Amino acid sequence: MKTFYDFYHNPVKLSFEDHPFSKSPKHVWVICRYEDQWLLTKHKDRGLEFPGGKVEEGESAEDAAFREVKEETGAQIDDLTYVGQYFVEGKGGTVIKNVYYATIALLSNQEHYYETHGPVLLDELPDQLKRNNRFSFMMKDEVLPQCLRRIEQHHQN
Ligand code: GTP
Repeated sequence: MKTFYDFYHNPVKLSFEDHPFSKSPKHVWVICRYEDQWLLTKHKDRGLEFPGGKVEEGESAEDAAFREVKEETGAQIDDLTYVGQYFVEGKGGTVIKNVYYATIALLSNQEHYYETHGPVLLDELPDQLKRNNRFSFMMKDEVLPQCLRRIEQHHQN
């Protein structure tokens, strides 16, 4: 278990165990790889981030991962793997989020990308994300580097 503070100084717990905080988390976040690039979305308010969002009523967390990635980027997931789960004690309540790693089969244009401006492909993620105001706060704490390290250890890209 790793503990740290997020960009807004809220405490975060991150674990790579099997659903340590909740068996039915209400949020998902999907680190997406399309061919040799990272696939992100440009959120209208928050900026660049990996796609994700809330699990809907009657939906599994995995279903939500497939749906959110499609809605926010137009991408169809080929393979989805659970990476870990994190718990944020935010000002307005707690958030429990599953992190997944997805490889993308197909990226298609669509008319609407919901609360985002749609897909953004990057060859590399910049080093100094914290100071880069193009990127969302979600990309600016230890969750991302820790999960990327974990993915690197478990997947041959
Ligand atoms: P809406 O109901 O869609 O308006 O959502 P909301 O703005 O209330 O946000 P949500 O329930 O997704 O998250 C509530 C708070 O939890 C946010 O304001 C953040 O402080 C925190 N939070 C949500 N997701 C993350 C995340 O991925 N990382 C971190 N560090 N904090 C998060």
